[in-house]
Amino acid sequence: MEPYTDLVVFSGRSCEPLARSMCEYLGIPLGDAHVGRFPDGEIDIKIKRDVRGADVFVVQTGAHPVNDHILELLLLIDTLKRASAGRITAVIPYYAYARKDRKDEGRVPISAKLVADLISAAGANRVITVDLHAPQIQGFFDVPVDHLFAMKVFLDHFERLAIPNVCVVAPDVGSIRLNRAFARRLHCDLVIVDKRRVSGTETEVLNLIGDVRGKNCIICDDMISTGTSIVKATEAVRANGAEKVYLCATHPVLSGPAVQNLNGAEGVEKIIVADTVPTDDKPVERLEALSIAPLLGEAVRRIHRSESVSHMFDETDPEH
Ligand code: R5P
Repeated sequence: MEPYTDLVVFSGRSCEPLARSMCEYLGIPLGDAHVGRFPDGEIDIKIKRDVRGADVFVVQTGAHPVNDHILELLLLIDTLKRASAGRITAVIPYYAYARKDRKDEGRVPISAKLVADLISAAGANRVITVDLHAPQIQGFFDVPVDHLFAMKVFLDHFERLAIPNVCVVAPDVGSIRLNRAFARRLHCDLVIVDKRRVSGTETEVLNLIGDVRGKNCIICDDMISTGTSIVKATEAVRANGAEKVYLCATHPVLSGPAVQNLNGAEGVEKIIVADTVPTDDKPVERLEALSIAPLLGEAVRRIHRSESVSHMFDETDPEH
């Protein structure tokens, strides 16, 4: 059943190349829109085609400058709602503010919930996102969320690399589930780093649970922000006798000292990320960005045709 005949994809300014690749996958042109700035810095938007009754997808990721990009997404959704789009889906490859998902101390916001409320209030009817920092953030939305996993793309890549004598390392307790699923698919051991966060840019490794001596390690995380967590985990496995280290993360946020931290990390063979956040302006050596455009494009195609999205992940869902 196709309730909406027209499928249209628009993009904000955070990730236009990714949106264009999605459109190539779907065999449609990117929707024509002007997204610019007024002289005073306010965001200026004009959708340049008729969208009445259409099934519209708006692609915008939480890249720097994140606050501008969030507001741009909200205004794009508002524009489409007022232009009588039939259904509006926000496609958010990297959902920013996700790490503030609970009140873990007094007098702090739950930013992930507020951003979800803003997206719903703007008029989004559903959301597609990739590797949420915590899967329960889906519950912050009152509209359906299709949560996609980049692991499918990474696994194909690592299976092609066929790294010998490999083990998978979770760089902190929060990433155990993801890494356990990885280890299961690669038929190898899982090692866990017991990490403590000291501040936004500082972490401390307390323990290494498991044996990495003489092994090649794949360390996977949902994101690399300053690079502190994943570099500390690299140092810990190297100090415990690991050979080569492959770093892997879905969201290359690469903020603050990330470039310096990653380029200075010894023993790192490759840094494999997805293109949920653009990395063209980040001179990180050994970085390889794998495109998730086919994954997002396929999810859009299935949603448009009212087909199952979860069937895309029957083999690779880290929840199972
Ligand atoms: C933490 O819970 C996350 O999964 C990442 O490990 C962390 O946010 C990465 O940040 P950074 O690169 O600044 O250590």
